[in-house]
Amino acid sequence: MTHAISFGYTKQRLGQPYLQQMRQRIGLLVEQYLSEEVLCDRIQDLPQQFQNPQPRRWGRLDWQGIDPVQIIGVDPLVFIAILAGSIDTELPIRGYTQTSRQYLAAYPSMAKFVGGTVDRDGHLIEPGLWEKEERQHAPALQRLYTQLTGLKMRPIPHEPRAYKPTGNKHRDLYIHGLHRVATEYGATCLYLWLMAHSTGPLQAVLAELLRDEINHMTKFWGFGLWAYPNATTLTVVKTLVTAAVGKLFRRHHSGGSLIHTLRRMAQVLHWSAWSWGNKLTFAWTFVAVLARLRRWSNSQTPEALETLLGRRAVHHS
Ligand SMILES: [Fe+2]
Ligand SMILES: [Fe+2]
Repeated sequence: MTHAISFGYTKQRLGQPYLQQMRQRIGLLVEQYLSEEVLCDRIQDLPQQFQNPQPRRWGRLDWQGIDPVQIIGVDPLVFIAILAGSIDTELPIRGYTQTSRQYLAAYPSMAKFVGGTVDRDGHLIEPGLWEKEERQHAPALQRLYTQLTGLKMRPIPHEPRAYKPTGNKHRDLYIHGLHRVATEYGATCLYLWLMAHSTGPLQAVLAELLRDEINHMTKFWGFGLWAYPNATTLTVVKTLVTAAVGKLFRRHHSGGSLIHTLRRMAQVLHWSAWSWGNKLTFAWTFVAVLARLRRWSNSQTPEALETLLGRRAVHHS
């Protein structure tokens, strides 16, 4: 089971052919996994999951067939370091779901979807669908790590950000929701990029993670479009900038978590060790996924979303 990591990789492979090859591979993956049909299907699935939550089943995976030779276009050690970093961003899922459930108090169906059912004292009785799907990710990444290196990986535990109400629940949820969408979007881009840099059984495992992240990203974003129909690209950007600036001037500012997340992700993914080519294709992945998401988002009318998710409560804040 223990594989020696292949060190046959050389920097020369990162010339123009690498960029061309990756642009094509990323384009094909975006086409396949983020098509208009897939995204529409994922949001249309939401009311069903409110009624009768069913975790998405994974396909059969050939764990024993995973081998470092299936890593392409990136230093295998960097690829493995990224896997290890991803495990860190996936945990602790229980903390994440319970914080989100509190922000979603005004939307019981969505609160249950992400955070499950709790008793009167706030003790969890049944986890939500989001948690049931997400909690498979860290163990899958750990298993990938072991298959590739022959080593066990112990993630560093860290505290999830707690629920911090400011008195304006509608706005609190808006900021929190944007943060959650950004996290699912980041995970989508990360797994898609890793898929572009892998083949065979290794790529098949990453595809299951990618499908889950796209599913959640689409549902969260669609829910946000429904709950905040007046939010424009400008208000989204304004919120993100305010969050970033707020962090510079005030510690523990509730909206400062976005920049914190980005900084933390760059740290755990060992960004500084990436080649310039890898950085470029990573940035390209973010652009390609965002363009696809935006195109789909623009085609979603408030009326269609109301037909799907019901009448929206009116907020005056
Ligand atoms: Fe995940
Ligand atoms: Fe996720």
